[in-house]
Amino acid sequence: MAIASKKRGKFITLEGMDGAGKSTHIPTIIAALKARGIEVVSTREPGGTRLGEQLRALLLHDAMHAETETLLMFAARREHIETVITPALKRGAYVLSDRFTDATYAYQCGAKGVSASKIKQLEKWVQGKLQPDLTLLFDVPVEISMKRLITAREPDKFEREDAKFFEKLRSAYLTRAEENPTRFRVIDANQALDKVKVIVENIVSTI
Ligand code: TMP
Repeated sequence: MAIASKKRGKFITLEGMDGAGKSTHIPTIIAALKARGIEVVSTREPGGTRLGEQLRALLLHDAMHAETETLLMFAARREHIETVITPALKRGAYVLSDRFTDATYAYQCGAKGVSASKIKQLEKWVQGKLQPDLTLLFDVPVEISMKRLITAREPDKFEREDAKFFEKLRSAYLTRAEENPTRFRVIDANQALDKVKVIVENIVSTI
């Protein structure tokens, strides 16, 4: 008897500058998918595995060369893909990752100047053909994101960067979205939380 192969799950990623509010919407997305009977694996980068979380602690708090940072992001990503993302997608689960490779293009390339072609090589090596099916980009003006960060917990290395860094970051993210219009949905996150929630629910209902 032939065994029916399980349909591959979907890979959803959340992106945006620090302070854009993307992580606030994770419970909404999980609830919306679960209501449809879908298994959801919620994870994050850098992190998502034991090794990845150890690398995260270094990445967020230790000063290092931007290329070292890029390599460590991809080392954590390799482990994450191998042990969490691919197995989950194969069994039909949806994977919701708070950041993925678009963050490397935005932070390490756009804001810190690492060459896009080096990142592309690592992307190909580490991910093969794996790409998110849907990326929600939470967009806010730089002054709003910086204002939100002042009132948040003790800032990490990235959150302590200046307005110029955040401007480059925002512009890199918006360029990524323009270059990948079928995968990206840009959300104006500079509005009331309940309005953003409705927008997020509507988008997720389409995947
Ligand atoms: P988080 O604050 O969304 O948890 O993300 C952790 C920080 O790591 C955030 O400031 C962005 C940064 N980061 C990069 O610089 N490059 C990457 O590839 C990823 C995944 C995150």
